[in-house]
Amino acid sequence: MRIDIITVSPELMKSPFEHSILKRAQEKGKVEIHFHDLREYAINKYGKIDDYQFGGGAGMVLMMEPIDKCLSQLMQKRKYDEVIYMTPDAPSLNQQMANSLSAKENLIILTGHYKGVDQRVRDKFVTKEVSIGDYVLSGGELAAVVLCDAVIRLIPGVLGDETSALTDSFQDNLLAPPVYTRPADYKGMKVPDILLSGNFPKIDEWRHEQALKRTRLIRPDLLEEESLDE
Ligand code: ADE
Repeated sequence: MRIDIITVSPELMKSPFEHSILKRAQEKGKVEIHFHDLREYAINKYGKIDDYQFGGGAGMVLMMEPIDKCLSQLMQKRKYDEVIYMTPDAPSLNQQMANSLSAKENLIILTGHYKGVDQRVRDKFVTKEVSIGDYVLSGGELAAVVLCDAVIRLIPGVLGDETSALTDSFQDNLLAPPVYTRPADYKGMKVPDILLSGNFPKIDEWRHEQALKRTRLIRPDLLEEESLDE
């Protein structure tokens, strides 16, 4: 997979890609990340990329021209599966969306800043708009990092143990069950006996029950979604 990220703050975004799973995914050749600094496509030598909004109102809006120049250059070189715009006024990211994006070849992610981008960018170029939740960040940069992390870890071969992504929370509309490690008894706080029993079918059953219990308690809406899916 190749991901091209268009942003006004590449430096804000780079470090998460230099550690842990995102770093290893790149080293293994599973994903290439390319940052494009929108300022390099500014409309004048002073680096102008934004302007006041028509009709008045506080906050600057990213202009069409720099984004058009950057996107057009990229799109001339290869075909992209999606041009994603990170914005709070969009459908929320979920595991299903991450699963489907993890199967794509080439993605562009555009991150907003200030008051966002000129609507004409969204109308002409953007094929998918994604929010990471019902709250407003200072810009789309951190949201784009969250999206990349959720997607890249699902690319086959990125996680060492292939099954570990399959047992994540949300993969089957359930939250993950509790996990424990050594010692089996920490100052009187004991690990449930079933996990020490070696009876793996029973352990699976217990985990499923626990997942259901947690989901019912914390996110009953996920169980409702499941019955809607059927
Ligand atoms: N930009 C600002 N807030 C955001 C959010 N919640 N999701 C995606 N992009 C954003």
